Amino acid sequence: MRLALACVAALCVIISVCRAAEIPRLVDHGRARQLVVDGEPFLILGGELGNSSASSVAYMDEIWPRLDALGLNTVLAPVYWELIEPEEGRFDFSLVDALLKRARAHDQRLVLLWFGSWKNSMSSYAPGWVKRDANRFPRAETRDGTRQEILTPFSPANLDADRKAFVALMTHLAEVDAKHRTVIMVQVENEIGMIPEARDHSALADAAFGAPVPAALLSTLADGADALSPALMAAWTANGRRMEGTWAEIFGADARGEEIFMAWAFARYVEAIAAAGKQAYGLPMYVNAALIRPGRKPGEYPSAGPLPHLKDIWRIGAPSIDFLAPDIYFPNFVEWTKAYAFPGNPLFIPEAHHAGAAEAPANAFFAFGALDAIGFSPFSVESIESPNEDPLGEAYRLLASLAPLILERQGTDDIAGFRPPVDYAGALDATPQSRVFGPFRLNVSFVDPWTPENAQTVAAHGGLVLRLAEEEFLIAGKGIVVTFETTAGEARAGIESASEGRFEAGRWVPGRRLNGDQTHQGRHVRLPPDAFSVQRVRLYRY
Ligand code: DGJ
Repeated sequence: MRLALACVAALCVIISVCRAAEIPRLVDHGRARQLVVDGEPFLILGGELGNSSASSVAYMDEIWPRLDALGLNTVLAPVYWELIEPEEGRFDFSLVDALLKRARAHDQRLVLLWFGSWKNSMSSYAPGWVKRDANRFPRAETRDGTRQEILTPFSPANLDADRKAFVALMTHLAEVDAKHRTVIMVQVENEIGMIPEARDHSALADAAFGAPVPAALLSTLADGADALSPALMAAWTANGRRMEGTWAEIFGADARGEEIFMAWAFARYVEAIAAAGKQAYGLPMYVNAALIRPGRKPGEYPSAGPLPHLKDIWRIGAPSIDFLAPDIYFPNFVEWTKAYAFPGNPLFIPEAHHAGAAEAPANAFFAFGALDAIGFSPFSVESIESPNEDPLGEAYRLLASLAPLILERQGTDDIAGFRPPVDYAGALDATPQSRVFGPFRLNVSFVDPWTPENAQTVAAHGGLVLRLAEEEFLIAGKGIVVTFETTAGEARAGIESASEGRFEAGRWVPGRRLNGDQTHQGRHVRLPPDAFSVQRVRLYRY
């Protein structure tokens, strides 16, 4: 008996060590694709650092406690090419090592952002030895031949230099982090995009523009024609939907065609870097996009990045990239997230607003509940003024306590997320939303009848619903009121019981039983607008 127990104990230790050593990966779960860390599905409750913070260990030392106070479990931090390879071939990983050490001490995971050839279109993070040698490392040029501070993606020398540095980084991570798995994903480059014209006009680019479109790209587009982005299909169709020809012949010589051509060039360059990096250490990798203001044409925004209308080009061109991600600074969060939550592309928002945006926490609830997001992360998170009081911390702590239940239900019909959509101009649509769960319809409204209209910040209201059993739900968030109906027959739905409470180590700890005025005498469940909370609700039919 004693021997059997010892064997079981030893097995448990082996299993847990193996799990801890399992490399992070993306795994399908129902309709969702989830990030698995240490063998368990993981929700990134993240925050991205301001661009320069991680360049100084001393500066970061002031910041770590703020990140803890905000309830983050993951920090998105840049790794700067200019600082890891100050001289060609001489690598210095001291900043990376310090970041790993501090992250571990603060029980944070890291997503590393490779600021290599491009950061917000530009090549400002290339080391001095690259910047100063424009003959060896050629630049993109405008139509009039002016060099831009943008490395051309058509130069094998540029690609080779970036790839060597990235591989050195991934090799180093494999050496120092494979046991710990502190780093769980890597972003390759940052907000790639061509500007101020839709395409590069350097000699290398002109030659590529005049070359045939790869046959493999066209046949893959043709095979998936039903699901192609309408804009890509329109460009192809407008030019006769040919299967052979130059870029201008197939997609047009206009800015739209030029953007498609550039997207392919960027995607191929990124693919070469990501594939080589994964060979060294196979973490999940993604690219992020600067989004487009309405009415802007290619060249007027950072063009050719991993944008929804170019998703097919990016996915065919860069198969080693696991997903495309939006950086959402515009108010129409719901619209942009829906554009990135397409099959096979898990939603991750590496930059969700500037730090402290009032609507950020509600957006996190919406993304995890409605679109099976794997992560959410406001930008410049360390600059939140009062991290101990900020609603983001309150929201993240609640989401962390619900994470196992959320992850179990993502990709199924047992989860939903709600927030009032806002359009690009900032107009909010507070129309109630509803969702059917088996025999019940839940109607969610965002205007709280008990809070004076002029004191409402409805843009910050939102939440998620988790179905625990046929008649039992968890409702979490703030500023929402939920009423219930049945979907069939004459029967009506009522609240048998509603309790506030919290999850501690996976166990429900009930607080007050809510009834009377708190449920409007059994008519609704209300999550007040002043703080994030969760209620456990049992319905019945009569
Ligand atoms: C988007 C970029 O990806 C970030 O690195 C940062 O520059 C922000 N914009 C600033 O708003």
